[in-house]
Amino acid sequence: MALSLLSVHNCGLLFMTTRDLIELDWKHCWHPFTPQEEWCQNNPIMLESGLGAWLTDTEGNSYIDGNSSIWTNIHGHSHPMLNQAVAQQLQKVAHTSYLGFAHPLASRLAQRLCQFFPEDTLSRCFFSDDGSTAVEVAMKMSLQYRLQTDAEERNSFICFQNSYHGDTMGAASLGGVSLFFDRFAKLGLPVHRVASLEDLLQLSTEALKSTTALIIEPIIQGVNQMTPWPTGMLAQLREWTEKHGIHLILDEVMTGFGRTGKMFACQHEDVIPDFLCLAKGLTAGYLPTAATLTTETVYNAFLGPREHAFYYGHSYTANQLGCAIALASLDLFESENTLERVNNLSAFLRQELTALQKRCPYVFETRQVGLVSGIELRQQNGESFPTTSRIGSHVCQVAMNHQLLTRPILDTIVFMPPYCISEEEISLAIEAIEKAVCEVLRS
Ligand SMILES: Cc1ncc(COP(=O)(O)O)c(C=O)c1O
Repeated sequence: MALSLLSVHNCGLLFMTTRDLIELDWKHCWHPFTPQEEWCQNNPIMLESGLGAWLTDTEGNSYIDGNSSIWTNIHGHSHPMLNQAVAQQLQKVAHTSYLGFAHPLASRLAQRLCQFFPEDTLSRCFFSDDGSTAVEVAMKMSLQYRLQTDAEERNSFICFQNSYHGDTMGAASLGGVSLFFDRFAKLGLPVHRVASLEDLLQLSTEALKSTTALIIEPIIQGVNQMTPWPTGMLAQLREWTEKHGIHLILDEVMTGFGRTGKMFACQHEDVIPDFLCLAKGLTAGYLPTAATLTTETVYNAFLGPREHAFYYGHSYTANQLGCAIALASLDLFESENTLERVNNLSAFLRQELTALQKRCPYVFETRQVGLVSGIELRQQNGESFPTTSRIGSHVCQVAMNHQLLTRPILDTIVFMPPYCISEEEISLAIEAIEKAVCEVLRS
């Protein structure tokens, strides 16, 4: 096996082979959302570098990053402008406390994020670390707002079946994937879980009066196998939440920053929420930094007595490197016409997905919004494969032999590449999925 390309500066890694590194992983590491026994039976790919839409492993093999490194990367890996933004910031400082101090980049980033929305709407920005904490912040703000506005009875949330909002205790309480949270359900927050708008309208008056906020992934649910919501539903939800005095929390952790063809998914239906949760693409897939935007009405309820303040924060809140990248990423949206590019690529992807579905009898359905897509595999008679056969997982495993890295959600193959991908690379990726499906299902 090849020696790792890492340099002498890299902590004694120079003379380690891929095998050595894998064994260290098996001996000392514990991976997220991963049954570890299974993990330790297969050689993992050790990713070492990236350029544009491609990632390269320690053996020198290259792959298209078909899920944008868990939905985070937007402009591509090692983008010169983003690299330069980090390098320049490192000449100044990497991190300073945001507790008790301010810094220029955070001030400017907060302003730029708020400027995406009309004045007097989302005008306050609270920084945190990742998608889960962006949601956690919105939840806690909404709950504390009720305590400070004489509405203590509003202490529960409405959320949707099969949703995913992160995995800290609060955010996970709102998630609808039973595998992830059922075992902790007794410890979670009170929730009313609904499947659809129709279901929502059936909730009792008592349920509505006890609700502080409704949370939804707008336009398309990610972890729910990339399932778009019916057109117009978001606007209806906004109207409904306003009517019932319920906050609307939009979780744009996956959909934000151009992924659906608009800067934010809520713009497809001209909806402005009470809380907007942003992470992943905020820092273009470089660093963990998140933001929760909210209104002046919410902010004002935290003024006055000292005990009314929002006592929440993390050591790395508003990390300077994260803010520098986020600002550089927003600049790229302008200088590279990123949204136009996403929309052109998304039209091309649509054609490729349609053609794939025609060619491949195991493709039951393809679902797509912008550069988010899911390819659902089923048996030729339209029935799902038995869950124990784990077809989606096998297909993604084999797709690696055809230069594509991605992950399935059940038997839906996710394809959501960085926006710098070319049409040729999209075709290569779809071809890799098709070849993998054929190979897996032939055997
Ligand atoms: C819609 C949504 N919300 C929240 C999260 C949690 O984000 P993080 O993993 O950064 O905590 C995710 C992660 O996939 C997500 O897709």
